[in-house]
Amino acid sequence: MSYRNIEVRKVTPRLGAEIHGVDLSQELEEDTLAEIRRALVDNQVIFFRDQDMTLDQHKAFGRRFGELHVHPAAKSPEGHPEVLPIHADEHSRYVAGEAWHTDVSCDEEPPMASILRLHTVPECGGDTLFSSMYAAYDALSPRMKEFLKSCKAVHSGEHVYRGYYQTGKGQREDTQNAFPEHEHPVIRTHPESGRQSLYVNSGFTTRIVGLNKDESDALLKFLFNHIAQPQFHCRFNWRKNSIAFWDNRCVQHYAMWDYYPEVRSGYRVTIKGDRPYFDSEGVEGELNLAPHRRVRAA
Ligand code: SIN
Repeated sequence: MSYRNIEVRKVTPRLGAEIHGVDLSQELEEDTLAEIRRALVDNQVIFFRDQDMTLDQHKAFGRRFGELHVHPAAKSPEGHPEVLPIHADEHSRYVAGEAWHTDVSCDEEPPMASILRLHTVPECGGDTLFSSMYAAYDALSPRMKEFLKSCKAVHSGEHVYRGYYQTGKGQREDTQNAFPEHEHPVIRTHPESGRQSLYVNSGFTTRIVGLNKDESDALLKFLFNHIAQPQFHCRFNWRKNSIAFWDNRCVQHYAMWDYYPEVRSGYRVTIKGDRPYFDSEGVEGELNLAPHRRVRAA
């Protein structure tokens, strides 16, 4: 189906699209909003350029897609608990998101989507990489898919957030005393597209339920390596006032910190999601590979 109110330019055939012809700081008409939502579901991650917005406008845009999520460990700007600052400079000892992950998958109902806007970018580098979990699932063998469909995995926030809570930075009532930890299906059915996707990530997933430790570690290592293959990826090169809007239900992302000691800075607004589920009737996709493809070095 085509778009009437926005222009959608695909970045790769598997995922990612740049959206043009819309000013997100303004209140959008319902049909434009519906097209943006369709573009997100169709492309898994969408990108916008030249979006000059206040924090209130950023939050207002996010709220059109659902209630906003409060991050369990954010140091939010005064008066904006739903805003997660993303910042790195010469004093940073780590950056948020420098590992393949879906946002806050340790929550019982992990965020549906995240909207990140950067106002300061390094001269070059600082890209965000996205990996399609539909494509990663589609590329598995039928037998591996069948096995994984019966599996659940534990997603824990403990190793990710421990330092924050100890210094009293946790800001959600449910996470003042305990680190979020929940079990989710390893194969997740997308509630809007109906497609099956792989739902484990190296940021939060700690073990596969019911396997012994060695088995679980080996399987997770295989899946994390599988997800990291470039054939499932697209890569976004930021400019000042760019926005990336990704669907956490079917993509993972990785923030590349190759620009030290330069500054990269912005804000993320995150939209609440639902409890992940597996539906055996979900849609099985196909990887669009050339039929006689052989891999060889050039
Ligand atoms: C994140 O939200 O995980 C950070 C992404 C980025 O900084 O590109």
